Amino acid sequence: MNKITIAIDGFSSTGKSTVAKQLAKALGYVYVDSGAMYRAVTLFAMQHNFINENEFDSKRLISELQNIRISFNFNEELGFAEVYLNGKNVEKDIRTLEVSSFVSPVAEISEVRKKLVEQQQEMGKNKGVVMDGRDIGTVVFPDAELKIFMNASAETRANRRYHELLDRGEDINYDEVLHNVMLRDNIDSSREDSPLRKAKDAIEFDNSDLTVQEQFTTLLNLAKKAISDKS
Ligand code: DC
Repeated sequence: MNKITIAIDGFSSTGKSTVAKQLAKALGYVYVDSGAMYRAVTLFAMQHNFINENEFDSKRLISELQNIRISFNFNEELGFAEVYLNGKNVEKDIRTLEVSSFVSPVAEISEVRKKLVEQQQEMGKNKGVVMDGRDIGTVVFPDAELKIFMNASAETRANRRYHELLDRGEDINYDEVLHNVMLRDNIDSSREDSPLRKAKDAIEFDNSDLTVQEQFTTLLNLAKKAISDKS
């Protein structure tokens, strides 16, 4: 059976990674969380003090890019690949609200995007990949056979994110999370390089009123159809 490329884009916390992981598992495809790569670069910038609340030394970050190695290692127990920064598992460290608050300015830098897009294209060159992010259907895999553009209201998304962070033991309040979600939407869709846009041939998918299972079933059917159309 021919393998396809599945590109899932959309605003933050729309549940892209949840359904992308489910699809990859059901189809025996590789799942790649491209946002984790931007988060790992952000973590590197934080660790080296290139970015903090007051300033962002983007030139230093750009000059250090060749020293940033991002890789993924499949975790059998979790059932998905965790992200590593220079050989260290940073899957948990990249999910904090602090990283979320710095990631958009880092993801605006063209040099960062160029490096990560090249790596993403390499990971998907043999197809059989489900990748989620902001520019997967527009820039990374413009020829993907199935493109989904996910959306949900900002409140629904902030609520999901808030509970996720609470479950992880973070000390946060809902308003802070809602503010971060809206701010990132704004920066991600207004930046100059590869702004978040629905690709012309992407299927728009609002999941505000769908359960995780309903969303999975619908998208799996779309994926099966795209696979059979290709075969
Ligand atoms: O999907 P996420 O929320 O973990 O992504 C974190 C940030 O990375 C997001 O605010 C925008 C950026 N990003 C991007 O610019 N392009 C991608 N393909 C994926 C993420």
